[in-house]
Amino acid sequence: MARRRATLGPHSPTFYDEPLHVVSGQGVWLRGADGGDYLDAYNNVPHVGHCNPVVVRAIADQAAKLNVHTRYLHEPVVEYAEALLATFAPPLDKVLFTNSGSESNELALRIARQHTGNTGILVTDFSYHGNTASLAELTTGLRVKEQLGSHVRALRIPDLDGDSRPEEVVLAESLNEAGAALASLKASGHGVAALLFDPLFSTEGLLRPPTGYVEAVAGMVRAAGGLIIADEVQSGLGRAGSYFWGHELYGVAPELVTLGKPLGNGHPLGGVVTTTELLDEFGEANLYFNTFAGNPVSAAAGMAVLGEMADRELRNNALDVGGHARGLLGKLAAEHPRVKAVRGVGLFFGLEFIDETGGPGTALARWVVEDMRHKGVLISRVGPHGNVLKIRPPMVFEHKHVDLLVDRLAASLREREDAETHRPIVSRVL
Ligand SMILES: Cc1ncc(COP(=O)(O)O)c(C=O)c1O
Repeated sequence: MARRRATLGPHSPTFYDEPLHVVSGQGVWLRGADGGDYLDAYNNVPHVGHCNPVVVRAIADQAAKLNVHTRYLHEPVVEYAEALLATFAPPLDKVLFTNSGSESNELALRIARQHTGNTGILVTDFSYHGNTASLAELTTGLRVKEQLGSHVRALRIPDLDGDSRPEEVVLAESLNEAGAALASLKASGHGVAALLFDPLFSTEGLLRPPTGYVEAVAGMVRAAGGLIIADEVQSGLGRAGSYFWGHELYGVAPELVTLGKPLGNGHPLGGVVTTTELLDEFGEANLYFNTFAGNPVSAAAGMAVLGEMADRELRNNALDVGGHARGLLGKLAAEHPRVKAVRGVGLFFGLEFIDETGGPGTALARWVVEDMRHKGVLISRVGPHGNVLKIRPPMVFEHKHVDLLVDRLAASLREREDAETHRPIVSRVL
């Protein structure tokens, strides 16, 4: 830590009160410098498993053969583009490669602004889409010095797990708010360039909006002249289980889909998937070049990830293992009054905690995350109050890993409750 602080500075973030020093990884396991094995129930970048041998071999073989930028013709980038685009429904048939989720969102915003002639952006409250200057101006879910841009409106996403009113009332109220946000963008002269959203509302706390909400907001954005950008950095590549891409959970066909984190299993690889029309329009007006993006080694990594997804049926695995986890977590929730809801879809879960008064159980969530680290299981927390456990393991997670995770989680909650027996829990808000 001292050497790290001396070089990276004191503000380079680390997880946990006692940061974890890791030395190697395999599948869903990380090996600590302390010699311990840690079950990784958090990381979505090693999508097909830490140090997946198929991906490692693909990277090494390609690196030993050829690695240049995309201004020369080479097979891997085209082969990968074809395979990636085959996972999207028409008219999404073109891809521009990038090196990160931030770059993908930055590029998607440029395309949307140039196409619409507008600058206004609708984001969701408590969201994160990246670290560039223009993304910092629309960040609502992370500390940034930049003010929310005058061209940005942050939309509160309705959440049926946190609202006991009838669904249609919640829906009507939240659509009114969306209408007001769009009207305000128009009135300010910015107009509407795009809605940028994460289909799983991950950073927001894995919210559960009313049926038809996302579709209706997308319709309103389009009617106002804007495009839809689905940020699939967290929700994509089979994570949602029932679908390959998170936006397919809704009846919404985005014009732009942004990709990052899991695509290269840790090798930097991102992209913007869009339509021929938008790509041509952007390409004719801008010479877009990106030195590292789409290089043969990155493309080989991406290709190997898609191969592993198909060969090991990992989307189905997310559905199956996710269902198993949801069942066990549901039982845990029923036994523990401080667990208010089991959130999430596919292989992405949130366990929401409340305190004795029914308010956000932030302290408990924080305690559980730290305790689980000492029990050898890695998880984190999300949401504006940090009271929702974030459980988002590599896609090669199996039933036995879920059993271990839930077993340790149950032990953690029991221990905490035992420690609190002098302070009995008096209410349970559902
Ligand atoms: C939904 C979402 N979009 C974009 C990003 C930015 O991606 P990157 O860190 O690769 O720039 C993140 C990173 O956490 C993210 O979660």
